[in-house]
Amino acid sequence: MQQAPGSMGPNLLLLLAASSYLISPSLSGSFQIDYNNDCFRKDGKKFRYISGSIHYSRVPRYYWKDRLLKMYMAGLNAIQTYVPWNYHETIPGKYDFTGDRDLESFLKLCNEIGLLVILRAGPYICAEWDMGGLPAWLLQKKSIVLRSSDPDYLRFVHKWMDVLLPKIKPFLYQNNGPIIAVQVENEYGSYFACDYDYLRYLLKLFRYHLGDEVVLFTTDGAGKGYLKCGSLQGLYATVDFGPGGNTSKSFEAQRYAEPHGPMVNSEFYTGWLDHWGKKHSVIKKEVIAKSLDEILALEANVNMYMFEGGTSFGYWNGANSPYWPQPTSYDFDAPLSEAGDPTDKYFSVRQVIGKHKTLPAGPVLPATPKYAYGLIQVKKLQSVTDSVNVLSFSGPVESVYPLTFVEMKQYFGYMLYRNTLPMNCTEGTPLASPQNGVHDRAYVMVDGVFQGIMERNKVNTINITGQTGSRLDILLENMGRINYGGGIHDFKGLVTNLTLASNILTNWTIYSLNIDKAVASGNLNKLQRKTSEALPEVNASVPAFYLGTFKIPNGIPDLPQDTYLKFPGWTKGQVWINGFNLGRYWPARGPQVTLYVPAHILSTSAVNNITVLELENAPCGIELNAVCAVEFVDSPILNGTTAYTNFHSRAFNKQSWHE
Ligand SMILES: *[C@@H]1O[C@H](CO)[C@@H](O)[C@H](O)[C@H]1NC(C)=O
Ligand SMILES: *[C@@H]1O[C@H](CO)[C@@H](O)[C@H](O)[C@H]1NC(C)=O
Ligand SMILES: *[C@@H]1O[C@H](CO)[C@@H](O)[C@H](O)[C@H]1NC(C)=O
Ligand SMILES: *[C@@H]1O[C@H](CO)[C@@H](O)[C@H](O)[C@H]1NC(C)=O
Ligand SMILES: *[C@@H]1O[C@H](CO)[C@@H](O)[C@H](O)[C@H]1NC(C)=O
Ligand SMILES: *[C@@H]1O[C@H](CO)[C@@H](O)[C@H](O)[C@H]1NC(C)=O
Ligand SMILES: *[C@@H]1O[C@H](CO)[C@@H](O)[C@H](O)[C@H]1NC(C)=O
Ligand SMILES: *[C@@H]1O[C@H](CO)[C@@H](O)[C@H](O)[C@H]1NC(C)=O
Repeated sequence: MQQAPGSMGPNLLLLLAASSYLISPSLSGSFQIDYNNDCFRKDGKKFRYISGSIHYSRVPRYYWKDRLLKMYMAGLNAIQTYVPWNYHETIPGKYDFTGDRDLESFLKLCNEIGLLVILRAGPYICAEWDMGGLPAWLLQKKSIVLRSSDPDYLRFVHKWMDVLLPKIKPFLYQNNGPIIAVQVENEYGSYFACDYDYLRYLLKLFRYHLGDEVVLFTTDGAGKGYLKCGSLQGLYATVDFGPGGNTSKSFEAQRYAEPHGPMVNSEFYTGWLDHWGKKHSVIKKEVIAKSLDEILALEANVNMYMFEGGTSFGYWNGANSPYWPQPTSYDFDAPLSEAGDPTDKYFSVRQVIGKHKTLPAGPVLPATPKYAYGLIQVKKLQSVTDSVNVLSFSGPVESVYPLTFVEMKQYFGYMLYRNTLPMNCTEGTPLASPQNGVHDRAYVMVDGVFQGIMERNKVNTINITGQTGSRLDILLENMGRINYGGGIHDFKGLVTNLTLASNILTNWTIYSLNIDKAVASGNLNKLQRKTSEALPEVNASVPAFYLGTFKIPNGIPDLPQDTYLKFPGWTKGQVWINGFNLGRYWPARGPQVTLYVPAHILSTSAVNNITVLELENAPCGIELNAVCAVEFVDSPILNGTTAYTNFHSRAFNKQSWHE
């Protein structure tokens, strides 16, 4: 066992002990909307919440307490979190609420610390999370209309809510739990369907499970246009808007749907999201402070989105349309950094809150220490195409036309499409996706020789060379599903035919790849080249695995500590430490350059393993003096230059991606 996140010392324990006095031990509480006095009432008393968003799915459980305590110490009396359906039901009918997915433990922790909870239960959540939290297996019915009263969609929503809602019921405020309000759907008024029957269906389902007392609400953009299709009688309508605008005017929009009742901004933006290839978003703390002060002065309720952004580990990032995937970091320029550290913005927000209520006594928790473990040499293992037998756990599928990820029942990561060239391509011959059907990125090889990269919306044709009968390998990367708008029906893989010199390619051999399982099993490590081989077997520019090992140094107290992983000379890929999928790196496109590595995945007793899947170019070629290494550094770089410097970086506001 490693040290608890209580490495911050005894203050924490004191705080925890003290905070339990804040909770009335046995009297069951009431939480209601007072329409006559335009406010909430908690246990009969006028109540206003000052809340912040933290997604338990983006912070390792190991750090939940640390982040929540920091939020409590900022003066918040509530937190808001989403429930990502696809995080809990990755396979239809198989539910996971263990470990980092243990929602009930998270809710208990909030209660112990003295933070109320505003729960956004979905089924759709947006959240810059793969497919807005909807499981990709819903797309097994190709024509399904998500977020509507399509009976096939509702059937699965019903089954899921039958599992989720009974779990959260004991945590409602009325039942002595922390949950004061539950959000139904999310920004539904921004979706094309405008299906009131769907919202009515959800309302009934939520009431059936949670009872009549709990406050159910909706959230939409602060404009009549959004509230029109997003609000429904019986669901309290709230709005979301960022800083810098006219605060009273934004709340007037809420009055369009709710003439009486408390004013609520459910998403007050403390920062903004990033996309690969676009400039890192930063919003000045002064702008946040000013608008927050105005909101609080109006006695309105507010949730700061995000207060702690965290990380989209593994494959969980989403994308916006036209296709712009989001990076691994969800730092959001929030008051607490991705690694949970108080920023200048944190202190400025805390100061503003202090003008409107008494702040909790005691010191603000310090940043968690970081450690630069330095350069770690890595060794090349094998190319992906040569490793198919350890990566693919079920035999390949033969198909005349290409199959999508969903058709292969693989939902995340990478798949391999194999074919043979039906003709001589001695001159460069165009391999094309005329219908823009490479979702989302394809690494193309002929007989193991790199040919080029195809990318959704960007590169639909490359020239390849090879002989009749040569092996054509296409490694297909799912870079994250669209999480907003009609594009959430986002199929992955080769979703349309490929042509070679204008002829449709047929008779594919398709391999489902479970790289995570192969990494965890340790079988990948066995692919290590014999030491007698001096040069790489394969060209350094084809997708391949690299392995590094390192020990946590002895004699330094309080290790392991958090760190950041940097990829000097590397291009794009995925990385695991001790089998934990840290996410995607892509310094060649930016703006994110380093990946956050939480301390709890590092081992002090065993040798630590880093597995790198580099998709393009590793600095491990035959060049003299090439440093084939990754590097642990002690501070993050999220604002590196991007490969799209010509991108017109207008202030990226909500409306601009709410197309
Ligand atoms: C803000 O909006 C309110 C209500 O629409 C209006 O009365 C006020 O003049 C506006 N303030 C500014 C500075 O524009
Ligand atoms: C393809 O090229 C090879 C070698 O250049 C040649 O032997 C073969 O006949 C060609 N095949 C066709 C179908 O043109
Ligand atoms: C493919 O090769 C042809 C002929 O050399 C050339 O005209 C064309 O621009 C090339 N296309 C790409 C995408 O490189
Ligand atoms: C691929 O081409 C075949 C033959 O034209 C066609 O029947 C099929 O629908 C195409 N598949 C896709 C996904 O476009
Ligand atoms: C594809 O496979 C079928 C049989 O499975 C065969 O009849 C057909 O000729 C093959 N097509 C090509 C282009 O090889
Ligand atoms: C790898 O392949 C690329 C493209 O074919 C080529 O430009 C490069 O020289 C090759 N590198 C090595 C080390 O063979
Ligand atoms: C790293 O991999 C080696 C070999 O597979 C294994 O023995 C060791 O336990 C791994 N280390 C950790 C921390 O999982
Ligand atoms: C990136 O952020 C750091 C830390 O806030 C800052 O010092 C640096 O100037 C920024 N770099 C760019 C290119 O904006």
